[in-house]
Amino acid sequence: MEKAEKKIRSYITRAGRESPSQKRALEELLPEYGCMAEEGVPLPLDSWFPERSSLVLEIGFGMGEASVEIAKSRPDCSFIAVEVHKPGIGRLLNEIEREKLQNIRVVQGDADIVVNSMLPPESLSGVHVFFADPWPKKKHHKRRLLQARFLGELACRLAPGGYIYAVTDWEDYAYWILEEAGKVESLKNPSRGFSPPIAWRPRTRFEKKGLDKQHSIREIWLEKV
Ligand SMILES: C[S@@+](CC[C@H](N)C(=O)[O-])C[C@H]1O[C@@H](n2cnc3c(N)ncnc32)[C@H](O)[C@@H]1O
Repeated sequence: MEKAEKKIRSYITRAGRESPSQKRALEELLPEYGCMAEEGVPLPLDSWFPERSSLVLEIGFGMGEASVEIAKSRPDCSFIAVEVHKPGIGRLLNEIEREKLQNIRVVQGDADIVVNSMLPPESLSGVHVFFADPWPKKKHHKRRLLQARFLGELACRLAPGGYIYAVTDWEDYAYWILEEAGKVESLKNPSRGFSPPIAWRPRTRFEKKGLDKQHSIREIWLEKV
């Protein structure tokens, strides 16, 4: 009998338990402001955002501070924020309720499932990936989220002219992403390398950690051809 292929994941379940308020949010607010990632079940985009004009997917929002700031500063745009880390999901759900945000919804689970089986082709105007786990050891590079395969899958979900905006503080990962993006025919890199910093992006929690370690911040902006 053939052994079932083990899925290579871009994340590990991080330690850290939800606070009672985050736990309540996961139980009570997720059905209201989001859903679980479920293979083959389309996201309810029309009921979440009946009048959407542009739709942006954020992958790996961590504790979600930047997600809230961006959603508040761009009320014209709708956001889907995907994460596996439960305390962060609970925190973002609480913020959505507190701030009464109508333009951001949360998906709990693996972004691979969301991108490949829950979103229609050409439905996105942008993708944000801020400080993806760098997986620095060579033997772990296969776990890096932003590799050619996944970038190609993201490109399929982007409308023409749509963008992928990635930021990292790991120099080696930054160059690796550029190289991987170069393998995807449907993506172009208008800066032909790293892009200049984008003014509207708030500083994230992991960015602060990187800056404390004197890491340089690298920005990558790709566009669907
Ligand atoms: C290094 S943290 C960065 C968090 C946040 N963007 C920031 O800058 O503070 C990367 C996050 O991506 C999440 N992540 C990694 N792979 C993921 C996947 N396939 N689907 C959803 N989330 C993922 C991890 O759980 C983690 O919270």
